[in-house]
Amino acid sequence: MRALQFTVYGGPEVLEWGDAPDPHAGPGQIRIAVRAASVNPIDWKMFAGVLSGGQPMVGTGYLGYDAAGVVDEVGDGVTGVSVGDDVFGRGRNTQAEYAVLDSWAAKPPSVDWAVAAAAGVAGETAERGLRLLDVEAGDTIFVDGGAGGVGAVAVQMAIARGARVVASSSEANHDYLREIGATPVLYGDGVVTRVLAAAGGQVDAVFYVAGKTPVEDLISLAPEPSQVVTIANYAAGQAGARVTGGGADSRPMAALAQVAELLAQNKLVIKVQTFPFDRAADAYRISQGGHLRGKLVLLP
Ligand SMILES: NC(=O)c1ccc[n+]([C@@H]2O[C@H](COP(=O)([O-])OP(=O)(O)OC[C@H]3O[C@@H](n4cnc5c(N)ncnc54)[C@H](OP(=O)(O)O)[C@@H]3O)[C@@H](O)[C@H]2O)c1
Repeated sequence: MRALQFTVYGGPEVLEWGDAPDPHAGPGQIRIAVRAASVNPIDWKMFAGVLSGGQPMVGTGYLGYDAAGVVDEVGDGVTGVSVGDDVFGRGRNTQAEYAVLDSWAAKPPSVDWAVAAAAGVAGETAERGLRLLDVEAGDTIFVDGGAGGVGAVAVQMAIARGARVVASSSEANHDYLREIGATPVLYGDGVVTRVLAAAGGQVDAVFYVAGKTPVEDLISLAPEPSQVVTIANYAAGQAGARVTGGGADSRPMAALAQVAELLAQNKLVIKVQTFPFDRAADAYRISQGGHLRGKLVLLP
């Protein structure tokens, strides 16, 4: 099969759409023929060598943490899904013709392949953040970084729970935030004052998505430091915020089932920009720019 790959660390120019060994579904896994796979910032952190701990590149690196496609292998112990089913979910090395998923949900027939692919990592991460923050109907929450992959899904999932959402973005994305139901505020200097004005006081919870605002500022908006949960600022724990990387606190199958239902009901709408796999470098240049509106998705 073919897969997106790299053999040296660097910029998007190191990526190549080339031959790779076929993966197979192990126990508890399924394999899909990939119809679409999304770009997540962790992918470029991988090929840029940011996550290598200073070690030199060894062997070939592959990319992708989510995808949508048609099931063509079912691993031992898996029930409730069959060869030929349309699914989306999370796995490793998904930016390829075939990929193994560890968690998945049925793709609603009305949902486009690219949108379903975009919902894997962003959907699971948004569900995890909102669950850890215990967001309920009537709460007001601040999503810091509301226009990107995770943020835009979190905004809509919170609204679907009956919460009121204030979200930050650049000025250019304020209309988009309004479109998905949030009250927009500009990030950067003065963001605390703007959130207090938009929310009418403190908020019940802060989902610290982009990881760029000083954590102390966000803690000042919440009833207690632990009501700030971050997925991107791993030092924020020192100030009392909670950091989640998606280990034991992840409930991926339940999260993806919830995401599928919201997608089918149009309560969750994901804006996607698509690229063929052999133009993946263009998509990654946009992702590395850090000013996403929705998700970037690669198509075979
Ligand atoms: N720990 C986990 O489990 C986990 C899971 C998924 C993602 N992540 C991490 O979470 C981060 C966000 O992921 P993503 O997929 O949502 O990224 P993304 O799609 O690239 O979106 C990034 C968003 O950040 C916003 N932003 C840029 N500068 C900002 C600032 N100073 N303050 C607030 N927002 C700002 C941008 O808004 P504008 O476009 O309006 O500038 C953009 O919409 C990444 O670092 C990613 O690696 C962690």
